[in-house]
Amino acid sequence: MVILMLRFVLRFLLPLAFLSVAALTALAQPQDTEQRITALMQQMTLEEKIGQLNILSGETQATGPVTFGGDHATEIRAGRTGSMLNVVGVNSTRQYQQLAMQSRLKIPLLFGQDVIHGYLTTFPIPLAEAASWDLPAIQRSARVAATEAASAGIHWTFAPMVDIARDPRWGRVMEGAGEDTYLGSRIAEARVHGFQGAKLGDLDAIMACAKHFAAYGAAVGGRDYNSVDMSERQLLETYLPPFKAAADAGAATFMNSFNDLNGVPATGNKHLQRDILKGSWGFSGFVVSDWGSMGEMVSHGYVKDEKAAAKASITAGSDMDMESRVYSKHLAALVNEGQVSMAQVDDAVRRVLRKKFELGLFDDPFRFADPAREKATLGKLEFRQAAREMAAKSIVLLKSDGKTLPLSPKLKTIAFIGPMVKPIKGNRGGWAVSVPGYDTDSQIVSQWQGVAERAQANGTKVLYAKGAEMMGFDRSGFAEAVRVARQADVVVVSVGESWDWSAEAKSRSDISLPGVQEELVKALHATGKPLVVLLNAGRPMVFPWIADHVSNLAYTWWLGSEAGHAMADVLWGDHNPSARLPISFPRSVGQIPVYYNHYNTGRPAVDGKQENFKSGYIDSPNAPRFAFGHGLSYTKFAYSGLKLSQTKLHAGDVLSVSLQVSNTGARAGDEVVQLYLRDKVASVVRPVKELKDFQRVHLAPGERKTLSFQVDREKLSFFNDQLQWGAEPGDFDLMVGAASDDIRLVGEFELLD
Ligand code: NOJ
Repeated sequence: MVILMLRFVLRFLLPLAFLSVAALTALAQPQDTEQRITALMQQMTLEEKIGQLNILSGETQATGPVTFGGDHATEIRAGRTGSMLNVVGVNSTRQYQQLAMQSRLKIPLLFGQDVIHGYLTTFPIPLAEAASWDLPAIQRSARVAATEAASAGIHWTFAPMVDIARDPRWGRVMEGAGEDTYLGSRIAEARVHGFQGAKLGDLDAIMACAKHFAAYGAAVGGRDYNSVDMSERQLLETYLPPFKAAADAGAATFMNSFNDLNGVPATGNKHLQRDILKGSWGFSGFVVSDWGSMGEMVSHGYVKDEKAAAKASITAGSDMDMESRVYSKHLAALVNEGQVSMAQVDDAVRRVLRKKFELGLFDDPFRFADPAREKATLGKLEFRQAAREMAAKSIVLLKSDGKTLPLSPKLKTIAFIGPMVKPIKGNRGGWAVSVPGYDTDSQIVSQWQGVAERAQANGTKVLYAKGAEMMGFDRSGFAEAVRVARQADVVVVSVGESWDWSAEAKSRSDISLPGVQEELVKALHATGKPLVVLLNAGRPMVFPWIADHVSNLAYTWWLGSEAGHAMADVLWGDHNPSARLPISFPRSVGQIPVYYNHYNTGRPAVDGKQENFKSGYIDSPNAPRFAFGHGLSYTKFAYSGLKLSQTKLHAGDVLSVSLQVSNTGARAGDEVVQLYLRDKVASVVRPVKELKDFQRVHLAPGERKTLSFQVDREKLSFFNDQLQWGAEPGDFDLMVGAASDDIRLVGEFELLD
């Protein structure tokens, strides 16, 4: 009893005695951050420390199941929450920050928000941006999002999502960079650099959050929140590198994930968070749980109650509790009972406070929340321009007959048909922020507006018919659509899935084009008019008839604020498409998961060759409908002159690869040249090809350029049969091409030692 009382005095009363105005003022002086944190933590009670480990959702928008029934103001004034999410705009963030300034230690709040693809100016969904394979453009998009969000009082975005995803049924494929580890890693870096700018503390920089750690994208059956079961090799080799890249790029925070990984929920996963992230990677930021994921460990059957969930979470290295409230309810007791060490709590608190110091919030808690800056920053013209360019760069030309597109300026009449033509919201995609004071829909250029404006500039008349709804089985609009199509020189059809059909908890078991839209396209195709189909979606869809019969196809995803303009830019060739698929498009759901970097197997099937006892389907080719890396241009490129600096490599040698790319068509354009490797024999089997580098090159008509790539030992390395990273001597194939299924040049070399 005496000991318990002594503990109580030490933890709760002694710090109060030391607190003085002088001490707080001293904290505001520029000192070494670690000393300032130490000084502050000496003032903090255990309850106040735990307060820093809580993030509470605001009163207006919820991005998960609401469980908090208390009074936000009371929580903040009492120092029981150190961060908030879903508080948007300068006015709101200022109000809540003022409440924090009424707490005993005046520790500023952090405001986090899902700024996933823009704040007010909405950029294409992340998967669409990934299709650009344009790292500077992707970085700029995150930079714009950060600049806008920071001006509105936001300190922290829950992005980038760097989950590798090979299953388009999973609704969250829209938030990531697709199926490939190399591309995903480069994009993760670009996004982190974009959000965090030159350095944290700058007024246009917000903290990035690499999520969802880890392997969330490998949910069984593509069903959101589902379990993940995978080998350690696959985890290390395929799923973790984008996280490592984000950490190395300086990501301030990580978010863990809902799924269990090989039976252990990620939130309670010590191996992931302590051994790998904070251990071998040396991550010094903090880890926030996903919404309710600490408490959900009870449902997983991993812990018996919420108290045990709190213990498992803090022990595993989850620093901040998002909306489970298990830390506020149980952590103090766990510490007092000696079940959780004070050192573990202190470490978590220190990590959170460090970021608040780095952001400069102790010097001025309101420094990001300036109404004048917010007003002057949101929706700037240059941001709109960046969004338009990014949107055009995200459109993938899947098929082209070489004559219909780009549309001729001489066309007299085009018909613009389909359920996606007029809606506005449809272009924003999931995870768009509702910014107070702005009618966010009015920020969007609809497809109709963009196309009609552009057509008018050429004196081309645009006719419209809806044809069908996105969903449902009503075919009554077909006749009108066909009538309109017959009057046009070219028919452009815009179809797709609804904006809220991909995102969190939006998994689909059938990813075909919904409703009767494919039938509508068939009816329009039957008119014999030149036909262009635009496909809008947050994931790869399955559209077999269209893929086989329509000669001009563009995948537009969801393009954001400048959707209509960007579509017009591509349709008329003001922008020559250069995007490439960041994820394979299956022929059917039955092929899923289908990805380019698979193993060969002992009985590889050759597509198109029907042989028994091979690793194939009896009713489908193995190849996807559109392969990873695929995407066309309005011009043509020829590859030649592959040269390898050497064909035998010693340890320490770097192989130089050079080749020429020429633009053999009549228009200027960008080619995305992709370099793949295959390690032919190794202690564990290696993929048939793996992307190891790529370059974007701009070429005027007739122009030829020499490109060079460097292949170092890292690019030849993998996790061997002992799970050790390294390269093994032996033969390698080197392939350079325009897509994973369009290899133009091949070479070979041998690693000697
Ligand atoms: C749950 C989602 O999984 C996560 O990505 C998001 O950041 C949080 N909710 C907060 O909205």
